[in-house]
Amino acid sequence: MNLQLTEEHLAVRDAARDFAQNILKAGVIERDEKQQFATEEIKQLGELGFMGMMVSPEYGGGGMDTVSYVLAMEEISKIDASVSVCMSVNNSLFCWGLEKYGTEEQKQKYLVPTASGQKIGAFCLSEPEAGSDATSQRTTAIDKGDHYLLNGTKNWITNGNSASYYIVIAQTDASKRHKGINAFLVEKDWEGFTVGAKENKLGIRGSDTHTLMFQDVKVPKENRLGEEGFGFSFAMKVLSGGRIGIASQALGIASGAYELALAYSKEREAFGKPINKHQAIAFKLADMATEIEAARWLCLKAAWTKDQGLNFDKESAMAKLYASKIAMQTTVEAIQVHGGYGYVKEYHVERLMRDAKITQIYEGTSEIQKIVISRILLNQ
Ligand code: CAA
Repeated sequence: MNLQLTEEHLAVRDAARDFAQNILKAGVIERDEKQQFATEEIKQLGELGFMGMMVSPEYGGGGMDTVSYVLAMEEISKIDASVSVCMSVNNSLFCWGLEKYGTEEQKQKYLVPTASGQKIGAFCLSEPEAGSDATSQRTTAIDKGDHYLLNGTKNWITNGNSASYYIVIAQTDASKRHKGINAFLVEKDWEGFTVGAKENKLGIRGSDTHTLMFQDVKVPKENRLGEEGFGFSFAMKVLSGGRIGIASQALGIASGAYELALAYSKEREAFGKPINKHQAIAFKLADMATEIEAARWLCLKAAWTKDQGLNFDKESAMAKLYASKIAMQTTVEAIQVHGGYGYVKEYHVERLMRDAKITQIYEGTSEIQKIVISRILLNQ
């Protein structure tokens, strides 16, 4: 495995870093406090090519590899994880699966505007009673000849209100369990589709998380993704790629907290010297840096495996499991390094801790990652 970063990789990383530092940082505390979606900033992110990074230029994307995606996600997430989750869902859960499994017509209509960042996509799998147990879909899509009739409720949908297009997973034939599940492309302004209340969350408060309701929504036959019954496998494949994005988000939250703790430890003096001259603090920094490096390699390994065209289910689950764990640990320790200052908003680390928690929950909890990894290891 050659993981030497190329000139292109470094240029992508630097562009993402500049954008995060110069554009996102200024308003991040206010957006978090007011639960404001970064509409204008995300538009600019699209113009820079970060909303459809891995999509072919033929469809308006950046034509980049997954390694570039990891590098960009880390930099954006250091500053604003609410923006990076929008970016991750659009890149991984919407654009990637659509490019891989969509028809030419579907790509022209839905991929071109989302990969170029002119429109935003969302992915709708979770339901009030189907989160981890994803086969238990209650949303139905009944075959009516030239269209499906979609009914049900989806929960915790990232980009819920800001999206224009949605990939919706629904049960077409319950007797077939997961083989009766399909994925559909749905437009926001279709009759019977309602965006429900916005969630008031602990972290990633600037992201736009909603319940969605579908009541007798007519979905044209040509909007089904893949063959009849492919929806569950489609969702699992897409989520496996998505986990590389969320692992990189967790990595960015951890490295952002570490950088703040390191800088603070140089400035702050106690007992006559900078606090990082005390082993209590220096050892914390050593642990943080080591764990972040390990998480970064797991993310890059998962990305490299995907870029080689190999199966990456185990690698993406391992990267997400570990990076999300160290995101929690690192952010808690970064607050400890800051002492009382870490507990107030101006110093950013309390927000990073609140943002870190979701990385152990969405796109499969840590327990789900362990199921995926252990099944592969045990070849079940
Ligand atoms: N690729 C392709 N197919 C896959 C697959 C993969 N990675 N994983 C499973 N499948 C297929 C299996 O092969 C099987 O098909 P066959 O019967 O034809 O062989 C089928 O799917 C069912 O598989 P399982 O028996 O393993 O299914 P299960 O019910 O035991 O569940 C699970 C497996 C791993 C627990 C799965 O349900 C899962 O990943 N759950 C978590 C769902 C999740 O991540 N939700 C997050 C919502 S999205 C989100 O959070 C986005 C956001 O807002 C940011």
